[in-house]
Amino acid sequence: MGWRERFEDPVRGVAARHPSVNVIRAAAARITTPLLPDDYLHLINPLWSARELRGKVVQVRPETADSATLVIKPGWGFSFDYQPGQYIGIGVLIEGRWTWRSYSLTSAPVHDGGADKTISITVKAMPEGFLSEHLVTGLRPGTVVRLAAPQGEFVLPDPLPAKLLFITAGSGITPIMSMLRTMERRRQHTDIVLIHSAPTALDVMFAEELERFESQGMIILHRQFTRAAGKLDDAKIDELCPDWAERQTWACGPPAFMNALGRQWEQAGAADHLHIEKFVLERGAVGAAGGTVTFAATDRTAEVDGATTLLEAGERVGVQMPFGCRMGICQSCVVTLSKGAVRDLRNGAEHVEGERVQTCISIAAGDCTLDV
Ligand SMILES: Cc1cc2nc3c(=O)[nH]c(=O)nc-3n(C[C@H](O)[C@H](O)[C@H](O)COP(=O)(O)OP(=O)(O)OC[C@H]3O[C@@H](n4cnc5c(N)ncnc54)[C@H](O)[C@@H]3O)c2cc1C
Ligand code: FES
Repeated sequence: MGWRERFEDPVRGVAARHPSVNVIRAAAARITTPLLPDDYLHLINPLWSARELRGKVVQVRPETADSATLVIKPGWGFSFDYQPGQYIGIGVLIEGRWTWRSYSLTSAPVHDGGADKTISITVKAMPEGFLSEHLVTGLRPGTVVRLAAPQGEFVLPDPLPAKLLFITAGSGITPIMSMLRTMERRRQHTDIVLIHSAPTALDVMFAEELERFESQGMIILHRQFTRAAGKLDDAKIDELCPDWAERQTWACGPPAFMNALGRQWEQAGAADHLHIEKFVLERGAVGAAGGTVTFAATDRTAEVDGATTLLEAGERVGVQMPFGCRMGICQSCVVTLSKGAVRDLRNGAEHVEGERVQTCISIAAGDCTLDV
């Protein structure tokens, strides 16, 4: 580690794009040690943090009866040159505990340091879900949240393909909305077909904006209202967009729907044209017993059942572990299993002592120890 990295070590993880900002923050961290600079910075402005990304919710705007857009003003260190289609992590303090989830950005990135220094996410309240309902109906403007930097591979190439197909269902429209808004802002034109499914017309997020894109000739829009017309299947996709196999396709929706698309594209020999994002963890029938999870480096333990992930277990007892998507996509959460066995929540695959495991999709199969 060079002198610069050593000096900036206390603010590692929230590095700003401009190197001089990192140096100033690092100096603040050193001057205020042993108290953390956040203890002082927070008093001046709750968005100033040398340790973590934060944001303030400036608006909660209803989209449909059960969804809302959250406009967030990020604090220091947030990079606005994310790619449309990427997601952020958002952490909200509920009953004394930070609860994290991932949400696709619905805003268009601002590369040019323009005036609009906000981002947005759009959340659908999930029945029996823990955080989404609170974000849609219980979050007040002014709330300070924690943020994890934008990431994800569900993005468009540059230059854009000549023919694009988007297939979305429900809240799966969110990453595509960021792509469309970005294309509009950049005045990028290409041949775009969007097939969107929702139970009824009233459940379509961004309905007016999509209609505007359609009337301006930016997209060809097909809406499938599943309560009246049933779910989309191979034949319907064929009817709505006969050249689907030739198009580069980005699809986002429930796992069963995405898996069906995967099979359709595979059978057509077009699997490399299909790019998929799933929002929901597929919880297979794994039958793990749960047990005591020991976090060796922090000397903490958590008792868990066979449905709680190791990441959730750590968060319950205040162990900070690395994470990104929280559903098995990104590999950010991999740690070493130093004792015992765990199972993959999605398919039951067992991992044993010595292996590196993804904590966000692993559950304890008896007592186990993690090297964190
Ligand atoms: C990359 C990415 C992008 C995303 N983007 C968006 C977006 O733009 N908009 C959006 O609305 N959502 C998005 N999501 C989904 C979002 O992260 C949350 O998963 C969603 O909001 C539900 O959170 P929740 O806390 O309400 O539900 P959770 O409490 O996490 O529960 C989710 C579901 O799992 C079930 N469940 C939870 N715990 C258990 C258990 N122990 N046993 C069995 N079942 C259980 C619940 O019943 C519920 O149906 C995205 C997810 C990812 C990974
Ligand atoms: S957090 Fe992304 S794979 Fe676990």
